Amino acid sequence: MWWQCFVKGLFFSFFNPQVVNGIEIYSMKIDSKVTSRFARNVITSRAVNRGNVHKEVFFDVELPKTAFITNFSMTIDGVTYPGYIKEKEAAKQEYEKAVSKGQTAGLVKASGRKTEKFTVSVNIAAASKVTFELTYEELLKRQFGKYEMFIKVKPKQLVKDFEIDISIFEPQGITELEAEGTFITNDLQNVIKKTFSDKKGHISFKPTLDQQRTCANCSQSLLDGDFTVKYDVKRTTPDNLQIVNGYFVHFFAPTNLPQLPKNIIFVIDISGSMSGREIEQTREALLKILDDIRDDDFFNFILFGSDVHTWKEKLIKATPENLDEARKFVRGIDTEGMTNLYGGMMKGIEILNAAHEEKFVPKRSASIIIMLTDGQPNVGISNTEDIRTHVKKAIEGKYPLYNLGFGYGVDYGFLEKMALENKGLARRIYPDSDSALQLQGFYDEVSNPMLMDVELHYPENEISGLTKNSFKHFYDGSEIVVAGRFADINQNSLTVDVKGEGANDVLSFTTQQDAEQTAKAFQEQEYIFGDYIERLWAYLTIEQLLEKRTAATGEEKENLTAEVLDLSLKYKFVTPLTSMVVTKPEDYDNQAGIADKTTEVRAKALNLCITKQTPVICFTVDGDPHFIISVPQKEDAICFNINEKPGDVLSLINDPVTGITVNGELIGDKRANSDANSQNTYFGKLGIANKYLNLKVTVTSEKITIQNGNEKTAFTWLDSVTLQQEGLTLIINKEKNLVLSMGDGASFVIVLHQVWKKHPLHQDFLGLYTLKSHKLSEQTHGLLGQFFHPIDFTILEIHPGSDPKKPDATMIIKNKELTVTRGWQKDYRKDPKHGIDIPCWFVHNNGAGLVDGVHTDYLVSSLF
Ligand SMILES: *[C@@H]1O[C@H](CO)[C@@H](O)[C@H](O)[C@H]1NC(C)=O
Ligand SMILES: *[C@@H]1O[C@H](CO)[C@@H](O)[C@H](O)[C@H]1NC(C)=O
Ligand SMILES: *[C@@H]1O[C@H](CO)[C@@H](O)[C@H](O)[C@H]1NC(C)=O
Repeated sequence: MWWQCFVKGLFFSFFNPQVVNGIEIYSMKIDSKVTSRFARNVITSRAVNRGNVHKEVFFDVELPKTAFITNFSMTIDGVTYPGYIKEKEAAKQEYEKAVSKGQTAGLVKASGRKTEKFTVSVNIAAASKVTFELTYEELLKRQFGKYEMFIKVKPKQLVKDFEIDISIFEPQGITELEAEGTFITNDLQNVIKKTFSDKKGHISFKPTLDQQRTCANCSQSLLDGDFTVKYDVKRTTPDNLQIVNGYFVHFFAPTNLPQLPKNIIFVIDISGSMSGREIEQTREALLKILDDIRDDDFFNFILFGSDVHTWKEKLIKATPENLDEARKFVRGIDTEGMTNLYGGMMKGIEILNAAHEEKFVPKRSASIIIMLTDGQPNVGISNTEDIRTHVKKAIEGKYPLYNLGFGYGVDYGFLEKMALENKGLARRIYPDSDSALQLQGFYDEVSNPMLMDVELHYPENEISGLTKNSFKHFYDGSEIVVAGRFADINQNSLTVDVKGEGANDVLSFTTQQDAEQTAKAFQEQEYIFGDYIERLWAYLTIEQLLEKRTAATGEEKENLTAEVLDLSLKYKFVTPLTSMVVTKPEDYDNQAGIADKTTEVRAKALNLCITKQTPVICFTVDGDPHFIISVPQKEDAICFNINEKPGDVLSLINDPVTGITVNGELIGDKRANSDANSQNTYFGKLGIANKYLNLKVTVTSEKITIQNGNEKTAFTWLDSVTLQQEGLTLIINKEKNLVLSMGDGASFVIVLHQVWKKHPLHQDFLGLYTLKSHKLSEQTHGLLGQFFHPIDFTILEIHPGSDPKKPDATMIIKNKELTVTRGWQKDYRKDPKHGIDIPCWFVHNNGAGLVDGVHTDYLVSSLF
């Protein structure tokens, strides 16, 4: 019909379908570089606000759970706001603080089966642009004969410039490379470009706008799902050793070995809560598993509800007749009663122990316990600590225990601890239509043991920081990875002895490698990130320490926590103990303005503000006031400037009772010998002292010095420090701000304003905020201190002033009448480009009439 065509035509010619809710994501790139299994991925997303009002732009991505985020930044209108890695508690506090102030902040939150969601949103002004950049790293694991890398793709709208680009370098040589996407249609298949030769592999996926559409003319994106890359490497030797810059990594994955026969005990929860879907799926999975059991394997089933039932009293060989009988048994499994997990576990271990003691199973065979539960133990021994103690004692490290937690009613922490302390691992089985497949999938991973008791021996005195080097089983299709650090950073060769028990005999060999050989293997690699082995080592170490920490208690746990935290902060990994926080702090708005060469006239005088009950955010703006005094009961503010010369020192706070003083020294522009009166001044140095505690803290835009009696400690703004000593707490947030609490709790925040380094005029300066000023006494004075006491004013006779936009008025304050002008300060939190005007009453002539005495009364001779 004509009107339909008309409406359609109108829609498509006037609305850009790439713009969703006013926001256009015009570019999204996923760039991935893999070197020897270690992957570094950078996701960059660029958006613009096409609307005519502020809009919130979301950046949410899902990352593999096994990955660690290592960097995040936002760039808004050309200014980059980096993320900082922090200890979790500190990060959380900062985040909450930022949120309560209405600032933008991002945190990584967990979700999903295999992925974790990372969400950040930022409010940007009309026509403004924002770029998000996220980096994460992970060690790709080999499973079923392939390394797998998984990228979640979900741009949620058509993106003009969408690209996935993956480069792989494997010094052993690449033998196969696959790329597939769950959303890839036949038409899109050709858009995936894949090449590999010898050591290099490359994958590119760059669909055009039209190729992204769910149908011709549709504005929906079909890019929604998993993009998976799989590859494997050549194996001419069972292992591969690489040495770079004092670190080594050792990959071990022998092929073509006969499989070990296995002895499997399935310990299955049949308590009431398993009834329905769960028990059905369990039966289904067990039947499939029975199809895969090999004829030289032994197995048995233990079921636990309120009571414990065993299928057979002994391990049973997987003959066709026995398998048939087992199928009948499995089909008949039904639920009953409570959860006697302890009874089930102990019975299973007992049967396995007996089989070994009676030499009923082959000497060279791999024994495995797989336990599945959906609940928490409540019959027999139900204290999980006690169960763990008994189980560990009964297993004695002889067999790995794999615990599968079905659904969300399990005490997963307990299952994980118990598995980890018995050389196994825990897995979640998510209640869904594919639960049976998840169970089978897990079985497949552990169903092909090729070696037992694998030990990789490195010369003890040459190595420090060795990751796990002994493994109960090696499963076909997997890979063992060990990394370490040389005690002597200059050491460049290594000899390793490898040993493992195979089905027929012992596998034993010695491997030797030196840094030169490694370097040769990497010759043709242009994009290698040089520290990949060191980072791989850090990744693996953190992963294993976290695992160990799971089951640890007391001092051991504290030590592990400290170790992980240390490494996470050093290598900037977002782990469960750290967070990355990105705030768009108000002081950065300044930086934005100052780095901007087009803004000629800059802030006069000082950048200071007082915060009392209601925090007032203070910004430096062209010609705007810089002492800002918030008057909460009026919901208004008073502001004034002090114009003095560079080098002058002003008394800001002076409290004779607590002994606290704060003085500030002025600096000017980089211009030498210019007319001081026309020169802008800032605070370049702040001195905070407590004479009773004999403490002096000097802060400049370069360093922070603490003098405690005769003892001197210095930090720079590049440090991240939390310092706690008697009467003093100091937290330095690298290149950002510092929080200083003294004595009874009076605290100050000093903000570092960094200026574009090559700016012809301006230099870095400081801002001061006062927190908890009520901790100072009634007798506090100084340019700021005098306003810590409640202050009130009345405004009369508002009338036009010399600037039509800024009315004058009469202010009654301290029994005086002053002529004041309505001034504005800008709040850049919501609108980083233009700011939002916040009014204050400006008192002229260096605050004459407002400050006690005259402003020159506050000049002091030195910082202390
Ligand atoms: C983090 O990313 C930002 C923006 O790309 C970059 O400037 C910075 O150097 C990166 N930091 C690290 C530690 O790689
Ligand atoms: C897509 O839009 C164009 C222009 O509006 C129109 O000519 C064409 O028939 C449309 N195609 C489909 C499949 O709707
Ligand atoms: C914890 O670390 C301290 C200091 O390094 C050490 O003395 C102590 O033995 C460690 N404790 C445990 C349980 O590892």
